Amino acid sequence: MSQQHWAGVLAANWGIDAELEPLAGEFDLNFRATARDGRRFVLKVMRSNCDASLVDMLCAAHAHVHAHVDAADAGFPFPRVIPTTTGAPWCVAVGPDGAERFVWLISFLDGCNYALFQPRNPPLIRDLGIRIAQLDRALSGFSHGGMKRDLKWDLLRADWIDAHHDQIADSSRRALVQRISERYAAQKPKLLNEPRFTIHNDLNDYNILVAHNSGYPPRITGLLDFGDIASGPVVVELAIAAAYIALDQDDPECAVAALVAGYNEVSALSGAQLDLIWPLAMMRLAVSVTNSALMQQERPGDPYVVISEAPAWQLLERAEQIPAARVAARLRAACGLPVDDAAANALEWIEQTRGKFAPVMGVELSDAPAVALSPVGCTIPRDPSCMSDAEALALGGTQQEPRHAVATWLGRYAEPRLIYTDRAFALGPHRGSNRRTVHIGVDVFMPPGTAVRAPLDATVEVVEYRGQHLDYGGMVVLRHTPADGVSFATLYGHLSRASVARLTSGQRVASGAAFAELGDRSENGGWDPHLHLQLALNAGLLDDAWPGVADPDDLSYWRALCPNPAALLNLPDSRIEYVALDMAEVTKGRRAHFASNLRLSYADPCLFVRGWRTHMYDEWGRAYLDAYNNVPHVGHSHPRIEAIAREQLQRLNSNTRYLHPALMEFADALLAKAPAHITHVFFVNSGSEGNELALRLARAHTGGKDMIVVDHAYHGNTTGAIDISPYKFDKPRGGGAPEWVHVVPVADVYRGEYRDADAAGRYASNIDGAIERIRARGGHLAGFIAETFPSVSGQIIPPDGYLQAVYSRIHAAGGVCIADEVQTGLGRLGEFYWGFEQQHANPDIIVLGKPLGNGHPLGAVMTTAEIAQSFDNGIEYFSTFGGSTLSCRIGTEVLRIVDEEGLQENAHTTGNYLLDGLRKLQPRHAVVGDVRGAGLFVGVDLVNDRTTREPATRVATYVKNRMREERILIGTEGPADNVLKIRPPLTIARDDIDQLLHTLDRILGETGGQHD
Ligand SMILES: Cc1ncc(COP(=O)(O)O)c(C=O)c1O
Repeated sequence: MSQQHWAGVLAANWGIDAELEPLAGEFDLNFRATARDGRRFVLKVMRSNCDASLVDMLCAAHAHVHAHVDAADAGFPFPRVIPTTTGAPWCVAVGPDGAERFVWLISFLDGCNYALFQPRNPPLIRDLGIRIAQLDRALSGFSHGGMKRDLKWDLLRADWIDAHHDQIADSSRRALVQRISERYAAQKPKLLNEPRFTIHNDLNDYNILVAHNSGYPPRITGLLDFGDIASGPVVVELAIAAAYIALDQDDPECAVAALVAGYNEVSALSGAQLDLIWPLAMMRLAVSVTNSALMQQERPGDPYVVISEAPAWQLLERAEQIPAARVAARLRAACGLPVDDAAANALEWIEQTRGKFAPVMGVELSDAPAVALSPVGCTIPRDPSCMSDAEALALGGTQQEPRHAVATWLGRYAEPRLIYTDRAFALGPHRGSNRRTVHIGVDVFMPPGTAVRAPLDATVEVVEYRGQHLDYGGMVVLRHTPADGVSFATLYGHLSRASVARLTSGQRVASGAAFAELGDRSENGGWDPHLHLQLALNAGLLDDAWPGVADPDDLSYWRALCPNPAALLNLPDSRIEYVALDMAEVTKGRRAHFASNLRLSYADPCLFVRGWRTHMYDEWGRAYLDAYNNVPHVGHSHPRIEAIAREQLQRLNSNTRYLHPALMEFADALLAKAPAHITHVFFVNSGSEGNELALRLARAHTGGKDMIVVDHAYHGNTTGAIDISPYKFDKPRGGGAPEWVHVVPVADVYRGEYRDADAAGRYASNIDGAIERIRARGGHLAGFIAETFPSVSGQIIPPDGYLQAVYSRIHAAGGVCIADEVQTGLGRLGEFYWGFEQQHANPDIIVLGKPLGNGHPLGAVMTTAEIAQSFDNGIEYFSTFGGSTLSCRIGTEVLRIVDEEGLQENAHTTGNYLLDGLRKLQPRHAVVGDVRGAGLFVGVDLVNDRTTREPATRVATYVKNRMREERILIGTEGPADNVLKIRPPLTIARDDIDQLLHTLDRILGETGGQHD
C-alpha cells in the first residue's frame, strides 16, 4: 500500500516510473526503486518528525563527497543524490497517513551488508580500511548546520554509560563494562587532544556494502548512511568500524590490524592514534550493550534493540583475555611502526651500540657462513610434515652444498623453514594446516659446551629447561636496561641442562660473562648443537611459550616485536637477514618473456618451491593441499623416483637405438597392465606426442584419414592433436574443425541431449551420422578417439555401455579405436586401472601421458601387433627422448609404486569417501547441481538453477579462488567452466579429504544467493 503511494511520489517528483521494494531502516523508510528501464535507486522517506536541516545536510554531504573524492578513488561508488525534476535535492510529500515527509533519492549501490557477508577476511577488511580513509579524505572540509551529535553514540562523551552500569543485570558483565569504562576514562584526555575532522561516525557493519556477485575477490562497494556525520577525531571513525568488524572474528586483533593497515595506506596513522583504537572500540561496544539494556526496558521484546547484543557481549568477554598492549603493538606493526614507544628507544640504542657488544660466543662471527634452511635453499626435511632425528641433527653447514670446512655457521633471521614439524608448531588439525615456520632469531651452530656470554649487562629474567622434542632444551631470557628509558630482553635457546640449573631468576650477569654453554643433542631438543638468539623489544608481549618461530601470515607483528638481532652479534643485519623471493620480479620476468596465453592459475597466482606427497609448499613453508594435479600421480617428490633418477643419471641416459634391459622392463610392466590383444608399445615424451603417433598408426593401418572425435575433447597442443581437439579448434579464434574431423556430442547424461536409461545407445548412435558424413564427403574413416572419461568437458562419466557401442560401430566401419587414457589411466578411477575397463570396451590403441612419469616428461602408445606392423612401412620411427633409459626406469618405478603402495585401492576408498562427502553437501547448497566421478576423478557441477541446470560459472570461479586462498588447489572445467575439478595425486588421505570438504562446505555457504 505504502509502496504504491511512494512510487507515486517518485513518479510525480522525479519523473521515474518504478517499482518499490522496502529495505531495512531503523527510523526512516527506504525503498529500492527499480525503474522500467532497469535503472535502480534508493528512495529515502525521512521519519515524520525529521528536521529539514538533517535532509539538507545529508544531500549536501553526498554532493561534497562526490565533488572531493580523489580522481584515483572515483571508481569507488558513493551513492549520488538524484535531483527532482525541478532540480531540488529533496522534496516534501504527504504520506498515506497525511503527515508531511521529506523525500530524497539516491543511486542504488549493488552489494550486501557487510554484517551478512562471508568471508569477512583480512583482504576485505584491508579494503574497507582503504575505503574509509578515502571517505574521510573526501569529507574533509565539509561542514553543515545539520551536523548534530546524538549524545548516545558520541564516543567523545561515551562515559554517559557510567551512570547506567546498574542497568546491566548480570554482575560479572556489569563489572566488565565498568572496567572498560575505567580504561576509557584513562584514555579520554588523549582522545580529547586529538585533532578533529569531519567523519562518517557510524561505520557499523550494516552501513558497509560488499559486492556479492561481481566475482572474485569480493570488494567493499559502498559506505552508507551519512546521518551521523560529525566532527571528531579519526580514531573515533576507526574505533567504531573496528568494533563491528571484530565481531564474530576468530582473530579480532588480526581483523582490526587489517583495517588500520588499509587506512594507513591512504592516510598515515601515528602510534598514539593506534593505541587509542582498541580501548575505544571496546567502549563503543560497551555503549551498545548498555543501550540495549536501557532499550529493553523501554521496548521489551523488540528484536531490533538486541540485534547486535549477543556478538557484542561475546567479543567484550573474549577481549578481557586479550592484552590491550598486544593489540596496540599489533596495530602499530601493521602500520610499520615500532611496537611501542620504548621499542623505538631500544632500537635506536642497539643500533648505536652495534659493533661494541661483548662477543656472545667468545669469538668474532663476521666470517661465519650463513647456512640456508629455507624451502628455497635446502631440502631438509624431505618430509615437511615430519623431520627425522637424523635430519634434525644435521642442520648445520656440513650437510649443505657446498660443504663448509669451518666449524661455525649462522642460521638466518626471518627465514622460513620446514623443520618445525612438531605438533607444537601446528596452527590447525590437518597435515596441511597452517603452522609457524618463520625463524625470528639467529642461530649460531657451534660445538656443544661452547660458552655463551652476555652481550651487555643483564639480569636473568627467565630460566627454564624445556625437554620436549624440537623445543629449546635449556633456555634463558636476559633483561637489559642499559640506559634511561631503554629496556629490552634477549633469549638464548638450546643451552645445556647444567647451565640452566646453575642460574636463578633475578641473578645479575655482567657484560661478556659466560652464563651458560651450548647443550648437546640429548638436552637441546634433539637439534644439531647451536644457539638460538632472539631479541624481544617487549618481552611482556611474548607469551610463556617464548616462541622462536612465527606464523608467516603474522610476520609484520613478530618482526616488529623480535627484530633482527644481528647487532647483538656485532654483525650487519644483512649478514643474517633472509632475502625473500621477489614475487613481483618473477611475475614481471614472466610477462616480459612469455606469451600471455601461457596462463597462470588463480586470480592470485601461486609460487611453489617444494612438494611432498599431496602437498605443495610456498617459499614461506605454507602447505597447499594439491587436489588438482594428476601428474604427480604417486605423490610429489617421491623418494623412490628421486633415487631411481639419481642412480640412472649416474649410470647412463641414452636412447632406443641401443639395447638396454630397462626399456624391456618398462614395456613388459606396461603391457602387463593392458588387455591381452595389446602387445606393442612406443615410448614418447607427452600425451600430445602420443596422440600424434596414434593418429599416424590409425591412418597407416586403415589407409583412411578421417577421424571421429567427441565434442569439447582435448588431446594435446601439437598441430595434429589440436586438429582433433574441439576444446581448442571450437574456441572463437580456434579455426574450426578440419574437413577430415567429425564431431559427435559428448555422452553427458547431466546436461547433454539424452539423460534417460537408454542414453548410452542414443549417444553411440551419433557415430552413424558421422560415418555417413564421411561417406558423403568421399572420405575414408581412420578411427575414433576419445578421452575415455572426458575431463575438460566437465569430468564426465559416460553411461554404461556407451564406449562399447561406439567401438563396435567404428570397427564395423573399418576404423580403429583410440583410448586417450592420459587423464584416466593407471588406477585413478579406483575400481578400474583403465577407463575403458569400466566401459567393457577394447581399444586398438591406448595413449598414456601425464601421470606415467610422475612429472618426468613421459608418454606411451600401446597397440596391437597388426597395427604396429602396418605402421612399419620401411621408414624409421624414432623419438630422441622417448624411451630414454632414464624415462624407462622412472616409468617402471611409477607403475610399481602404484601397485606396491596400494594407490589404486586408495583412489577407490578415498575417492568414494570424497564423493560421499560431496553428495552430503549437495542438499545444503542449492548451487551444487551434480556430483559425479569415479575414484579420484571427480567433478562438482555448479548451477544457478537445478531445474534449468544453467551453469554457475562465476560461482565456480569464486569457489576455485577461495579454495586457493584457503590453500586447497582445485580447478574448474567444462564448456561453461562451471564444474569444480578435483583430481589429486593418488596419495591423498582421508584427513586431506576432510579438510577439503569442510572448507568447500564453508565456501559454498559464502556463495548463497551469489548467482551469475
Ligand atoms: C586427455 C588428454 N590428452 C592429451 C593431453 C596432452 O598431453 P601433454 O600436455 O602431455 O602433451 C592432455 C593434457 O592435458 C589431456 O588431458
